[in-house]
Formats: sequence, structure tokens, C-alpha cells
Amino acid sequence: MKFSFLVPAGLVLSLAACGDKTPPAGQAEAQEAAAPAQVVLKSGEDVYKQVCLACHASGVAGAPKAGEQGGWAALADEGQAVVTAHGWVGVRGMPPKGGRADLSLEEFARATAWMARSAGVDWQDPDEHMLHEIREEEEKRIEELKKRR
Ligand code: HEC
Repeated sequence: MKFSFLVPAGLVLSLAACGDKTPPAGQAEAQEAAAPAQVVLKSGEDVYKQVCLACHASGVAGAPKAGEQGGWAALADEGQAVVTAHGWVGVRGMPPKGGRADLSLEEFARATAWMARSAGVDWQDPDEHMLHEIREEEEKRIEELKKRR
């Protein structure tokens, strides 16, 4: 990967030396490839403050409180993927996506991890692997809920 990037970049330098204004193709491609990772996602703390705090600060309807170990310690045993997916789908007083349809799963998961950390549970912002697990748990949960109806 690195090598294929370095070669065109070197080529561009030598072209530039000859006064050729050809755009640095290799570089442009590399930037395009990197772009999706730079989609500006909100941090867990920002999402919490903008959305989740409304219920999770004071514990509305039994919401596990940010910064308080009790509720989160029990959830920690269930695991990050399961708990995040259940919150995302919605459970009892917890509205799907926290009531914010425009949140991405990754942002929601970050906010969940942030709340857990604030309560002393060691959950990190989700990586690709964790997001995949959350998606799987989400599907399972939806199937489960369908059967109950
Ligand atoms: C309208 C109030 C409300 C808002 C807003 C809200 N929550 Fe909740 N949330 C709840 C309640 C109530 C529960 C407890 C549900 C239960 O177990 O009965 C809960 C539970 C959860 C759970 C635990 C799910 C489980 O497996 O038990 C997670 C995770 C969660 N919320 C994440 C979030 C995130 C992240 C946000 C912000 C994006 C958010 N919530 C916004 C009310 C809310």
C-alpha cells in the first residue's frame, strides 16, 4: 500500500521539476480514499450533551445515569455490543436512537461508550469490529421483538 503511494508521488515530483502541471494523481487518489474516515462524526461527549443528557443525567424513567456506577455496572456484564444495540433499537422508556433519527450508529455507540466510561466502565469508542458486532446484535434484537408481537 505505502509503496504504491510513494511511487506516483515521486513521479509527480519529477514531473513538477520539468514544469509539468499535471495534478498529482497519486496524491488525489490517496486523499479520496482517506476521505470517508474524515466524515465529521460527533464525539460521544457531544452527542451525550446534545441528546442523551436529557434523560441520562437525572435518570428519567430509570435511564442509567451518566457518572453513576450502579446502572452501568449491571449493563457492563451484558457487554458493549448488546447494550449499545438494545439502546439503539429502543427498550421500554429508551426511545430508538435516543429519539434522534439523524444520529449514526457510530455516534450513538460513542455516546453509549462515553456514558459507560463516565460511570467507570471501560468501553472505548467502537472500532470496525465492534460496530459489526453491534449490527449483529441489532438484527438479533429486531428478530426477537418481531417474535414477541
Ligand atoms: C427520552 C429519554 C431518553 C433519551 C433522550 C435517551 N435515553 Fe437512553 N435510556 C432511557 C431509559 C428510560 C433507559 C432505561 C430503559 C430500561 O431499561 O427500562 C435508557 C437506557 C439506555 C441504554 C441501556 C440499554 C439496555 O440494554 O438496557 C443505553 C445504551 C442508552 N439508553 C443509550 C442512550 C444514548 C446513547 C442516548 C443519546 C443518544 C440516549 N440513551 C438517550 C431514556 C433515554
